[in-house]
Amino acid sequence: MTAIVTVTASPALDISFTVERMVAEEKLRGTRPVMHPGGGGINVARVATRLGAEVMALWMGGGCDGRRLADLLDEEGVRHEGLPARDEPRHSLHVEEGATGAMYRFVLPGAECSEAEGARLVARVGELAQTSFLVLSGSLPPSLPADYYARLAARAPAGARVVLDTSGEALRRGLAGHVYLAKPNRKELAAAAGRALTSRDELVRAARELIDAGRVEVVAVSLGEDGLVVITGEGHEHVPAPKVTMVSAVGAGDSTVAGIVVGLVRGLPLGEAARLGAAAGAAAVLSEGTELGSRQDTERLFAALRGAGSG
Ligand SMILES: Nc1ncnc2c1ncn2[C@@H]1O[C@H](COP(=O)(O)OP(=O)(O)OP(=O)(O)O)[C@@H](O)[C@H]1O
Ligand SMILES: [Mg+2]
Repeated sequence: MTAIVTVTASPALDISFTVERMVAEEKLRGTRPVMHPGGGGINVARVATRLGAEVMALWMGGGCDGRRLADLLDEEGVRHEGLPARDEPRHSLHVEEGATGAMYRFVLPGAECSEAEGARLVARVGELAQTSFLVLSGSLPPSLPADYYARLAARAPAGARVVLDTSGEALRRGLAGHVYLAKPNRKELAAAAGRALTSRDELVRAARELIDAGRVEVVAVSLGEDGLVVITGEGHEHVPAPKVTMVSAVGAGDSTVAGIVVGLVRGLPLGEAARLGAAAGAAAVLSEGTELGSRQDTERLFAALRGAGSG
């Protein structure tokens, strides 16, 4: 029995460094690059591990960079299983401009995943031992069909609650009835709903439509510094974000998903779990570059949010 299994179909090596100024045509000398294992599900597993949960990251990738990704996960003490694949994980580059603190994020295309490799990951999910939460997070390799997450969700172990955090068609087609909780941001929810969502009411209505259609049970819409709105069939609740000084927003969304799921594993009611999510998201915002939030920051911000009640 594993509490949380995360799935990353398109893992990444996150590489970050600083240049003094971003100037076209010139040689830009950078600092020594820092490397982290990345991709949605892998980041969720990294944060959940820090928060003390029992978690396993399932991912797929090959080559030298696949081995490097495995080493980086081992170094961080994240339990994981990498399925072999022909192609290497993609690269994400985070370049900070030292003079201004501006962060430039380059997201390079995902590995070409063959049909057989995609099928192998679905089969592996079908073989998983008992799991409380199956987290499907991140973009899909472009070669996989847009309903791939729906297929993975349908193969979740009996009794597992599926959490989905992705965007575009992968989200719209992924919400096909086997998902317990989705965490879109406002733009992602608008794309899934097929219309612009400006007011809080419109956002709640769009989420409720997905719930009433039986496509998902809970929608937690993240609104950056405005926190989260959690919508269920019964009602909705706004969870404010802790007030923090913004250092780098990298990893806020993945950290929020990790916090919510860890909260639910701890047996917290949904609203409290969402507060742990907001705290984990804010802790990531407090941390430099591509660093994720620390457990200490997360628990401190969570305690403050619990004390403050709802906003
Ligand atoms: N500036 C901020 N101050 C405080 N908390 C923040 C801030 N930005 C994000 N958060 C917290 O992190 C959560 C997730 O952030 P956000 O809504 O930006 O996710 P996202 O759009 O999915 O991000 P990502 O690009 O990482 O996927 C928010 O709901 C909030 O609780
Ligand atoms: Mg996100």
